[in-house]
Amino acid sequence: MKISLVSAAPAELNVDALAIPVATGQPLGPRAQDLDRAMGGVLGEMVANAEFRGRIHEVLPIPAQGKVSARRVILYGLGALHDLDGQRLRSAHHELVRASRTWGYKRLAIMRVEPLGMDALKGIVEGAVMGTFERRSRQTGPAPERREIDELILAGFGIGREPEVIAAQENGEATNRTREWQNAPPNELTPDALAQEATRIAQRHNLELEVLGPAELKAGGYNLLLGVGAGSARPPRLIRLRHHGTSSPPSGEGGSGRAADPAGRGEADRPVLALIGKGITFDSGGISLKNPENMSRMKDDMSGAAAVLSAIDVIASRKVPLDVMAVIAAAENMPGPTAQRPGDVLVSADGKTVEIVNTDAEGRLVLADALTHALRNGATHLIDLATLTGAATIAIGHAASAAVSNDDAFWTQVEQASREAGDRVWRLPIFADYRILLRSQIADLRNAEYGEAGTIMGGMFIAEFAGAKPWAHIDIAASAWNTNDELTTVLRGPSGAGTRLCIELVEVMARSAKDSWPPASRNS
Ligand code: BES
Ligand code: ZN
Ligand code: MN
Repeated sequence: MKISLVSAAPAELNVDALAIPVATGQPLGPRAQDLDRAMGGVLGEMVANAEFRGRIHEVLPIPAQGKVSARRVILYGLGALHDLDGQRLRSAHHELVRASRTWGYKRLAIMRVEPLGMDALKGIVEGAVMGTFERRSRQTGPAPERREIDELILAGFGIGREPEVIAAQENGEATNRTREWQNAPPNELTPDALAQEATRIAQRHNLELEVLGPAELKAGGYNLLLGVGAGSARPPRLIRLRHHGTSSPPSGEGGSGRAADPAGRGEADRPVLALIGKGITFDSGGISLKNPENMSRMKDDMSGAAAVLSAIDVIASRKVPLDVMAVIAAAENMPGPTAQRPGDVLVSADGKTVEIVNTDAEGRLVLADALTHALRNGATHLIDLATLTGAATIAIGHAASAAVSNDDAFWTQVEQASREAGDRVWRLPIFADYRILLRSQIADLRNAEYGEAGTIMGGMFIAEFAGAKPWAHIDIAASAWNTNDELTTVLRGPSGAGTRLCIELVEVMARSAKDSWPPASRNS
């Protein structure tokens, strides 16, 4: 889908459809009224009669009958203004594009009118691009009902904003790439296939790449990851990509960064953010086997890995001036003859002993070793994304990711990124009282059976491996895939949750690093 900004009068746009946003309980905006006059008042009448209410996901095409250049005018809803956050803004445009694809429009224009401000551009483009995602890519029958839009034309957003459009389009496409990976069947997207995707990204941007297989994992002591992968014929992989945004890459390696540091600060002072993704390509539960109803969806247990891969692809292509690594713990959790058992005790890469009480609580195990790997490679800030607990759906449902963090300042940056991304997160507390629930009778930690607060406990287990660095854990078990058919305004199926959050977090941190550097003491 080509996207362009135009300054032509909306009534003169030669398009299949010209879309106008309307919020619940609001009259048509002033600029829409001009168009309404050209249309003979039919738009205002639909709104005044409440035949069109402006509810979110409401999309109404109206034949223009030659009164304007567009063949159709579309009214589409934003919902109530006080409910309109970045996620709903994107959702409204996702739906507008899906409806337009169903109707076969090839050229779609969106006209910015009140109540949308100039700052809505990013969310509109991201949502519209996300609306092009097609989940049925593996169907062989007759041509899909939803067709492709060739061009999206944006009117009333000012001029010279092409860089913003391009960035938003990249964000939307990255989100869709995550969704494509989430949706990929587990016989295709194996741990090794994830490593190959990472390799393609590394090659594209000349990034530092490391892929550890069973032998290297054994040598490095990554026994928790090995344990989770032990029941599968497809061996685990620990994947690390490194974008050198401020530091110089190791000699002989590529790197997108600037080698020279204009502020003259030592590399030791600069943050290195690790984006860590849970990459369980299929979660059968292992010996603690899931029941069939809960199992078929478990192909998306690599959603965290997909999000961080898509994110670092964008980050590297933009050469964002921040050092960022993506670490992916990829494994298949299967109950094969060599699978780990409930009762096994394993030594993690950082030396803690862990009793495996339930082999289905595998995410926290592979992430523990992934955090250790990130710290060994110089991470100063950690964020992990994981489809970790079914309890996340119980705690807050599909409309947001559940989170915990050990650091208020870092969390503030995550929250800011979340707002800019339209990718909701909600922080749950960590209570010291619960730490005792992590203890095992036989080892340092146990991986399950804490009795309560499942999402928090999953996070608190992982926190034990964060080495006292600023860390946030984003549980996307619910937000990555909305399975509630009645919850219609949250994207259904794979959502790409966390992708834009990671991209924006890197940009937020890069901006704040630039502002606070060089430190005053070094600037004399
Ligand atoms: N991948 C699942 C969590 C999950 C559940 C994701 C539903 C998406 C939808 C995870 O590995 C898991 O099985 N978690 C267990 C943990 C428990 C055994 C402590 C769970 O939530 O039941
Ligand atoms: Zn899992
Ligand atoms: Mn599991």
